[in-house]
Amino acid sequence: MISEQLLKARAYEADKEQEISPDERPAYHLSARVGWMNDPNGLCRYQGKYHLFYQYNPYRTQWGPMHWAHAVSSDLLHWETLPCALAPDQPYDNGAGCFSGNAIELPDGRHLLMYTGVRFDKHEDGKVDEYQTQCLAIGDGVDYEKLDCNPVLDHTVLPEGASKIDFRDPKLWLGSDGVYRAVVASRPADGSGQILLFKSEDAIHWRYVKKLAENRCRLGRMWECPDFFTLDGKGVLLVSPQDMVGDEPRCHAGNGNIALIGSYDEATDTFTEEGHQVIDDGTDFYAMQTVLAPDGRRLMIAWMQNWDIQEHLPGEKWFGQMTLPREISVKNGHLYQQPAREIEALRVGTVRHSGVKVTKAVELPGVRGRCADMEIAVEGVTDSFTVAFAQDAQHKTTLTYDALRGLVTLDRSASGTRRAFVHTRSCVADKSGSIRLRVILDRNSVEVFVGEGEKTLTMTLVTPVTADGISFSAEGGAAMDVTLHELAHE
Ligand code: FRU
Repeated sequence: MISEQLLKARAYEADKEQEISPDERPAYHLSARVGWMNDPNGLCRYQGKYHLFYQYNPYRTQWGPMHWAHAVSSDLLHWETLPCALAPDQPYDNGAGCFSGNAIELPDGRHLLMYTGVRFDKHEDGKVDEYQTQCLAIGDGVDYEKLDCNPVLDHTVLPEGASKIDFRDPKLWLGSDGVYRAVVASRPADGSGQILLFKSEDAIHWRYVKKLAENRCRLGRMWECPDFFTLDGKGVLLVSPQDMVGDEPRCHAGNGNIALIGSYDEATDTFTEEGHQVIDDGTDFYAMQTVLAPDGRRLMIAWMQNWDIQEHLPGEKWFGQMTLPREISVKNGHLYQQPAREIEALRVGTVRHSGVKVTKAVELPGVRGRCADMEIAVEGVTDSFTVAFAQDAQHKTTLTYDALRGLVTLDRSASGTRRAFVHTRSCVADKSGSIRLRVILDRNSVEVFVGEGEKTLTMTLVTPVTADGISFSAEGGAAMDVTLHELAHE
């Protein structure tokens, strides 16, 4: 049965989206159908396609009672919208709604969603008790029925000291032993984060197994939105820590993103951390989820926004977009990212300039645009090299390689923003004087991949799309090759 709340959301989104024309959106990044989008949810393969749900408030461009929006794609770049999948319509999710979670295809072909239901118990004295519990819904890829046995995991199963409020964001997978597993974020008594592991034979009845990882107040506070998988022989745990303390340029203040890399023994469900790193050094990258592609690649998508700016940048018609899908790999204990190769099919024109000597700001024929995939290889940088883009007389965003300090810096402070939030972020690079940069623009965003993808910087931009200039300059001179692929944006 489709609830009244879900029917209302479906009617509203179908009607309201008519007011948004495609050119008011990114060309190939998924953006909120209407209203507000945050975390990717339920990223999975189901019946031969990628399904992606997301945290969704259809009614306002600000966070509110959480629904799950739904989209489907063959390449993670062209998205078809499906009707809203979940609305807060049950006693166990009618507080703040249906929080983040994940999805899996069951052996009988049905689609299982696991999400966090947020319940508020209001008392006569005005006090409110909040509970976060894990709940299930089963469907056919369009319509989902919440199970009568919900919630399937509540605070009574938690280890001692764990908060009944901060227990959320399940991620599911099927182990190689045929047993389902889920990791769920939890807040222990020390106020930081821990990731709990649960198991199930049928994906419906779950039991607590152990703590898979503990923050112990090292990296921010609560770790939200865990994802766990093995990749290139390593166990990889992705988490989104709240309230990180900055240690620039290695680590940035605010809500962040961390990969913990180590060994994983499936037989004993033991993850032993060997190291950790920031995944993306930009301002706008949070709550990432991954999916295994049919060819074995592990693909990752994140929410391309930041909680700290939500009140300063309300979208007029929609708020929130996802990053590009990225192929991830682990080499020598480090996580690398590359844009998913599917993006190459969007290329509609290519311009190349080789052996260009750069000193003062120079523009190159054919090198401009706001939907572009640009590859730059620079050599002989003795001081610094800068590429400016989304540029006109009033606006620019710059990406600078500082060979003296060994830093790559993305700076959107002249991008047209009128707000005083963070506009500049750096990541550590080598000081060799040579660097490769891949810069992907899609109207309202830039994603930078450094070198082999050992570092990335992601930011959203408010610059008018008419500002489409690109220029290059180098203090002390440099030589570069530039290839610009224009990406389809009709
Ligand atoms: C992360 C998060 C999740 C939660 C969701 C609520 O961005 O706070 O922990 O499930 O957003 O919308």
